[in-house]
Amino acid sequence: MKDLPSIPRYEVLRNRRTILKNPLPFHHHYFQKYGDTFRINLGRRNDWVFTRNAESIRHILQKNHKSYGKSSFQTKELAKYIGHGLLTSNGEFWRVHRRMIQPAFHRKKLEGLLGTMYNAITTELNRVQVNSEQDIFPLMGDLAFQVVAKSLFSADNIRDRMQRLKEITITNQKMLIKEMRMPYLNWWFHLNGDIRRHLRLSAEARHLINGIVQERLDSNEKKNDLLDMLLDARYEDGTHMPRQQLIDEVMVLFTAGHETTANALSFTSMLLARHPKIQQRLYREVKDIDFEKGNNIHALAQLPYTQQCIEESMRLYPPVYFMDRVSLAEDTLEGHVFKKGTVWLMSIYELHRHVDFWENPDQFVPERFAPDDKKDFSGHYFPFGAGPRMCVGNNFAMYEMLMTIAFLVKKYRLSTTKKIKVHPLISLKPKEADIKFIVRT
Ligand code: HEM
Repeated sequence: MKDLPSIPRYEVLRNRRTILKNPLPFHHHYFQKYGDTFRINLGRRNDWVFTRNAESIRHILQKNHKSYGKSSFQTKELAKYIGHGLLTSNGEFWRVHRRMIQPAFHRKKLEGLLGTMYNAITTELNRVQVNSEQDIFPLMGDLAFQVVAKSLFSADNIRDRMQRLKEITITNQKMLIKEMRMPYLNWWFHLNGDIRRHLRLSAEARHLINGIVQERLDSNEKKNDLLDMLLDARYEDGTHMPRQQLIDEVMVLFTAGHETTANALSFTSMLLARHPKIQQRLYREVKDIDFEKGNNIHALAQLPYTQQCIEESMRLYPPVYFMDRVSLAEDTLEGHVFKKGTVWLMSIYELHRHVDFWENPDQFVPERFAPDDKKDFSGHYFPFGAGPRMCVGNNFAMYEMLMTIAFLVKKYRLSTTKKIKVHPLISLKPKEADIKFIVRT
């Protein structure tokens, strides 16, 4: 792989301030200059390779997935705060738990949760301030958190505890971003007690979740929520998940399931606010939809254009804009041999705007996802990842987003004076997503 074009270390150092602020233009510049795959020299032991090559991404995530694992950023750094659940584990341990948890997210099971989801969504959206611009991201953050919280624990007496859990999730994520962006200060974060303080917060979150689980077991009640499904899940030998593992999985579901969805919902709302004609077409689709009637799955099936808008929004602004993997064995891709330990950074953001696959890639054109279109996007459209580690919550997220956007546009006309700005952290977040809501009459 030594013949791959490589960004020299001094270039990275020279641009470090801009990269820290927003690495996307830096990446784009080098993808344009060097092609779809290049190396980056960070002076570390292992090679780092950036790619937006669709075939290589499919190879890593799907065809030869067994030769790749998640990097230590997820399995160590993130895991120290949220534990070793689906998102943060590898190998046989991951496979066993994926097999146990996946059934809880099957479409049929999720149908039973739609009413709970809808109630959480409307409660949050009824807090929208009308007639003045407001940043929609905090609102969508609360909404997505409440939807996961209510779907996991449908108990009524947990509001304060959920609020605390949310604060801890957000605070610890901020700490993780600091650690990720300033790795050279990690010694200081240990010394000044920052890491210890945040680990104590994680312990508090685990204690809160444990209390809720214990109350459920003591009550002997069946709620048919995600917690019941996790409690009912069995290993092949018939035993159930140890309590600590169950808590890890709950922590992972909160982390993986709330911010990504909040980002996608905020970007979709901004795009609709900036494209009144598309919003009007979506309004025509949703204006007679009634989720109150109870047959939610039927109502969701009536929203093909809304779905296209969400899909197109996640093409332009994929919440998981980067995926990482480490080679577990030597492998050959694009005619180059890559050694074991190579760190792969796959740019979904770049792939989703690649001129080889998308006409007018920077434009918001939901029609490109029209179901009657014969185009097949499955090889170069990965908002939920691909292969066996594809997002376990993709159907959950899609149902949640369809109901939210449908409710929002049915009730309000959305407008904005702001351009869309991105804030790439662990996920791709919007910045100043200010929207004015005007009640439709
Ligand atoms: C728009 C919303 C969402 C997006 C864009 C998204 C995206 C993704 C992506 C790209 C991955 C794969 C990461 C990789 O392979 O490295 C992933 C994994 C995962 N997601 Fe999501 N996700 C969303 C919502 C959710 C929700 C709502 C939940 C749960 C309630 C969830 C739970 C998970 C879990 C547990 C994993 C790890 C799966 C595994 O490794 O087996 N996600 N997500």
